[in-house]
Amino acid sequence: MKLLVLSVLLAFASSANVPKKRAAYYPNVFYTSLPYLQNDGNNYEVWLTYVPVPVPTAIVELKGEGSEVSGRITFTQPQGGPVIYTGNVTGLSEGLHGFHIHEFGDVSKDCKSVGAHFNPGYTHHGGPADPYRHIGDLGNIKANAEGLAQVHDSDHLISLHGHNSIIGRSLVISANKDDYGRGGDKESLRTGNSGDTVACGAIVWIHPVRPKPPQEGESAKPEGGADTEIVEP
Ligand SMILES: *[C@@H]1O[C@H](CO)[C@@H](O)[C@H](O)[C@H]1NC(C)=O
Repeated sequence: MKLLVLSVLLAFASSANVPKKRAAYYPNVFYTSLPYLQNDGNNYEVWLTYVPVPVPTAIVELKGEGSEVSGRITFTQPQGGPVIYTGNVTGLSEGLHGFHIHEFGDVSKDCKSVGAHFNPGYTHHGGPADPYRHIGDLGNIKANAEGLAQVHDSDHLISLHGHNSIIGRSLVISANKDDYGRGGDKESLRTGNSGDTVACGAIVWIHPVRPKPPQEGESAKPEGGADTEIVEP
């Protein structure tokens, strides 16, 4: 049974089967060489196998705070690299809105118990590309005339594990634009003058993203591969 499962993994992990537009979710593939025992029992052939590793995935459901704003953002972190975040936020006023990770994931009192920007390094506020910034400083999102902000970005400081983990914290959308600490006043260096909270949500784990299983009729073998058995290392 294990052998069958492995050979199926071989097939659907090959990049040819990964839908192009979702490729960003599936780079987490380990390339492993496993010894393959040939019929004569003396020679080993080494096969390159593709074993998909589930990509850590978290989600936040945004609910309006005295507003009609709602949305859903998904965070993934392939191979421990930058966190990729994607989703839509609707019901916004047109323009830029601060988009920050806050310390606490407690959204039970509307958005009033989420604390300040997530800032384990005790630095001042900044923009996402600044050398000094809060870990939670993800900048702004931009809503169109219909109030929709389509979010697709990545960040190298937030993480889904370790010291900078955002799991159990919250994502907060602000009424105003984040000035990245360049406003020339105290509040700018604290919050970027991004104003009231319009929506928030807790960042929680969901089932890791996995590649789709092969469709019926698709080959379960890698391109050009022979009939093989895979021996566990
Ligand atoms: C975001 O909204 C756009 C436009 O309505 C839609 O095409 C897209 O599929 C949405 N994306 C997500 C992740 O819901």
